[in-house]
Amino acid sequence: MAGLRGDGWNLGFVVETERQVEAHLDEHLESLPAADTRSREIIRVMKDDEARHAEHAEHAGARTLPPPIPQAMALASKLMKLVAYRL
Ligand SMILES: [Fe+2]
Repeated sequence: MAGLRGDGWNLGFVVETERQVEAHLDEHLESLPAADTRSREIIRVMKDDEARHAEHAEHAGARTLPPPIPQAMALASKLMKLVAYRL
C-alpha cells in the first residue's frame, strides 16, 4: 500500500522499521551478559547496519509517517515477537 502512495511513503516505512529494529537490538544489548563481548559486538554491528539503512532511506526522501502508523507498526512487531518467543 505504501508503495502505491509513492517512494517517499515507502521509504518512510523503511525508516520506521529500521528504527524499531534498532530499539529491539537495544533490548538485546541490555539483556546480554556484560561478559558476552562476542555477542554484544555482533548485535552492535547489526544495529549500526540498521541505522545506516534508515539514514540511506532518509537521504533518499523518506517521509515521516504520521500517527498512528508507527504505533501500529510497534504493536504488530510486539505481537510478532511474542509469538516468536513462544514458538
Ligand atoms: Fe535493515
